[in-house]
Amino acid sequence: MCGIVGYTGHRPAEKILLDGLKRLEYRGYDSAGLSLGGKELLTIKAVGKVRNLEQETQKYGELKQTTGIAHTRWATHGIPSVRNAHPHLDNSGKFALVHNGIIENYAELKQKLTAKGYTFASDTDTEVVANLIAEFYKGDFVQAVASALHRINGTYGFAVLCTDYPDTILVARHGSPIVIGLGDGCNLVASDVAPLAAYTRKVIYLDDGDLAVLTPDNVELRTIENLPVEREVSNIDWNVDSAGKGQYEHFMLKEIFEQPESISNTIRGRLDRKLKSAMLSGLGLTPHELAKISRIVIAGCGTSMHAGMVGEYFFEDIAGIPAEVEQAAEFRYRNPIIDPDTLVLPISQSGETADTLAAVREAMNKGAVVAALCNVVGSTIARETGRGIYLHAGPEISVASTKAFTCQVTVLLMLALMLGRNRRLSRDDGDALLQEIERIPDLIRETLKQAPAIEKLANKYAYAEDFFFIGRGTLYPTALEGALKLKEISYVHAEGYHAAELKHGPIALLDDKVPVMALANAIPGQEKMIGNIQECLARHSPVIAVVTGDDNRVCEFTQDIIRVPASSRYVAPLTTVVALQLFAYYFAKARGCEIDHPRNLAKSVTVE
Ligand code: AGP
Repeated sequence: MCGIVGYTGHRPAEKILLDGLKRLEYRGYDSAGLSLGGKELLTIKAVGKVRNLEQETQKYGELKQTTGIAHTRWATHGIPSVRNAHPHLDNSGKFALVHNGIIENYAELKQKLTAKGYTFASDTDTEVVANLIAEFYKGDFVQAVASALHRINGTYGFAVLCTDYPDTILVARHGSPIVIGLGDGCNLVASDVAPLAAYTRKVIYLDDGDLAVLTPDNVELRTIENLPVEREVSNIDWNVDSAGKGQYEHFMLKEIFEQPESISNTIRGRLDRKLKSAMLSGLGLTPHELAKISRIVIAGCGTSMHAGMVGEYFFEDIAGIPAEVEQAAEFRYRNPIIDPDTLVLPISQSGETADTLAAVREAMNKGAVVAALCNVVGSTIARETGRGIYLHAGPEISVASTKAFTCQVTVLLMLALMLGRNRRLSRDDGDALLQEIERIPDLIRETLKQAPAIEKLANKYAYAEDFFFIGRGTLYPTALEGALKLKEISYVHAEGYHAAELKHGPIALLDDKVPVMALANAIPGQEKMIGNIQECLARHSPVIAVVTGDDNRVCEFTQDIIRVPASSRYVAPLTTVVALQLFAYYFAKARGCEIDHPRNLAKSVTVE
């Protein structure tokens, strides 16, 4: 949520900052700005995308400053506007500051500063901190920032410039990620590694309470208590190209088509053909510890929560372990019953989602075994849990999550296989499941061949303003995910329902203007789903049916069919969701929507 980038070195900073912001734009895109350092600060801002800021910057001609900070915003305090865009300056124009996170006591601080004569040009919490730093400044930049940080409650990732220290960027972290890139004759900072990869492979992830002083040739790490600290230098393990759009019009389409490969990467080296099981060493649990697990609680938000809901079926059905899914934001407010034999699985593509992080901390406090499923290596959730399973899906840039979901479900299936083999799953059943997991990339490849047919259907239905998605069993959470995809990128009202639940109320909404996407794959429950389809048709709703292979059982009821390859109920969510992702993509495209940057959203949601 919001993106930060900073550069100090010997090259003009402007282009590096703008390039970095473009790579971070998925984090927020309602306004952007930059400040270039020197004896005087030059600050330029624009509403909307980074390209607007770029145009604005061009008006200043060649900019030679070699130090700067920049920001792309997802509004929390104050509407998207130039005056609310970051960087924010103190009244004297000595300090410029960009911020991710929320300052909870900003109103109280603002009142105190106003009483001392400070004025405020924006509605943001961030501007308060710029003036607070100025208030404490007696010539020592680090001291002033540290003093200000001690007065702040809330979360932050900050980068600050000061005119008295023209080639210095001061950064600090509490709750919002900050990564430092160690370059050759330059150093960089960003809110994730995406903008750093073009300049360096070496990065340092700051911990909460860290403060760093960056100059072109040095990075000095301290705590805000002013104690020196050392942090590990990590390597970035993906290249810049994998974070580009390639031949595709949108990141979302690229990521949908990447799924056979990303799932292969998720599976690689993790299946044990000899034992007919899976090897997920990142969990760090011995077979004895695995056998002791008596309950699994999964926590996540949005798409990650839907993946968890599919996993719930796996753990109960395959491994015989009671499992439940919690919307992560509810987790700590429900006083969940957790004991040392409970395995808590937070699921998060970004590893930065504030609600999921709060659940992680609560579960760890309660003494649970907590193992995270994250995609972003080195993310806060991955580091705080210290154990878990990386997805290896590669960078997911599109705000609408696609490949993360299928990799999450694949990991959950492998985990269920491992836990199942550790208890009641026979060698033969383990072997059958293992073989099916190995087939997933090919099954997805088959499904992707349906793209032209799905595009036709999406164009046909692009008129609809309301949509229902219905499913049963493992296809129930798949229906929820299909509806989420459609609503977030096309802004059409879409609801996912259990097919049986429809008749308990929502069926009142059906008529000839409300199409229903019915997940009618040949898995247990299909007969009942056919009955549910008829209930929809009887209310004049047009029905699109997802079916398996050449199954023609629903063809006498509807001509609008999406075919996915035959699979068990465990793998059906994966093939089916790919079809629904494609449907949402083409539907949004037909309606002329901004697919990679849907309104009001941001890729990683770092506020509760
Ligand atoms: C999915 O398309 C969404 N953009 C959103 O629901 C997302 O899955 C959710 O915010 C959780 O993110 P995370 O996986 O990074 O924790």
